[in-house]
Amino acid sequence: MRILHVVGARPNFMKTAPVMAEMARHPDRFEQLLVHTGQHYDYEMSEVFFRDLQMPRPDRFLEVGSGSHAEQTARVMVAFEPVVREWRPDWAVVVGDVNSTPACTLVCAKLGVPVAHVEAGLRSRDRTMPEEINRLVTDQLADLLLTPSRDADENLLREGVAPAKIRFVGNVMIDTLVANLAKAKARPIVAELGLNPGDYVLVTLHRPANVDDAGDLHEVLEALRALGERLPVVFPVHPRTRQSMGDATAAELSARIKLLDPLGYLDFIALLDAAGVVITDSGGLQEESTYLGVPCLTVRPNTERPVTITEGTNRLVARSREAIVAAAREAMKEAAREAGGGPGRRVPELWDGHAAERIVGVLAALMPDHRSASTTQAPATMRVRNV
Ligand code: UD1
Repeated sequence: MRILHVVGARPNFMKTAPVMAEMARHPDRFEQLLVHTGQHYDYEMSEVFFRDLQMPRPDRFLEVGSGSHAEQTARVMVAFEPVVREWRPDWAVVVGDVNSTPACTLVCAKLGVPVAHVEAGLRSRDRTMPEEINRLVTDQLADLLLTPSRDADENLLREGVAPAKIRFVGNVMIDTLVANLAKAKARPIVAELGLNPGDYVLVTLHRPANVDDAGDLHEVLEALRALGERLPVVFPVHPRTRQSMGDATAAELSARIKLLDPLGYLDFIALLDAAGVVITDSGGLQEESTYLGVPCLTVRPNTERPVTITEGTNRLVARSREAIVAAAREAMKEAAREAGGGPGRRVPELWDGHAAERIVGVLAALMPDHRSASTTQAPATMRVRNV
């Protein structure tokens, strides 16, 4: 079975890595091609993840770079189409919700190549988020929808997706976290930054809604500044946020809080694991903090990952200085209480480090002459287009 994997941007790498590693354990069944669209291209936004996650080098690098949504999406499509024509995969595997995801899905759909979408079915119901548009388009066109949580199945069914296309496989990003946690904990970064475990605030911000408008960003930065008066605050800054912040603000802010360049996977997980609270607008971080039991404040009015609130450590917080400061102080107190013998963490269903095995099992079962080396039962009633 010829499988073409697509990666493009930072949050894709930790989702594709375990699926590729699992397929590599069955070389008799799978031939793999890794395509990197080049949506992200800086060393610390891309290359460092290949090193940290020991991923194979991309077989094709499309070098599309940055641009408006239309430009970036179109460039991915134009560059990707000849690769699909030439390599003729049996299946394409796309992950997440970045622009590369619907772009490659659309190309495959037009060429009759079936697509498996890993992390299907998540919905914020907020169409001002580019990722929500990407999720809707990808899930409409994909042939196999591999979901991380039960709410995702329900979303897809409500949209009229045929049940036979949906498989609840669990959270593949947690596979990467489980596989790398010991290595991450061994990194010296927490001590090197002069931090005490449990006693600092970790921040990431990059959503256009929070960082593109100077006034909105100012509100969040004011909160960080206030927190920085009482607590260490560590903030690896995404390039989008760095541009919006400008040099003068960055210089002034760095007197109060630790502004860092974006970090690699292992260093970041080390910082997250030992944080007292994380303040973020990232999707993946809501999940990783839930798995690790670290309180998470998500600066957004909604989330496509509600299970991190109902079963995890996540809480939505308004984009206002007062709300963020009050929630962070409260979360630090709660974290301290839990460290002293609290009820312990809960982990959502099938966030167990074995999602990639289930994904590969589902795909293996679709092979024309499948015999069942998979860990998941073959879906007998699977009716997938072009298979
Ligand atoms: C993208 C994804 C978002 C994901 C995020 C993770 C879309 C629509 N958005 O947002 O879902 O959460 O990645 O990081 O796909 N830049 C660099 N170096 C790079 C990449 C980008 O400097 O390697 C700068 C460029 O100026 C670019 C800007 O960052 O214009 C934004 O990059 P872009 O890929 O458009 O969106 P992200 O904000 O990174």
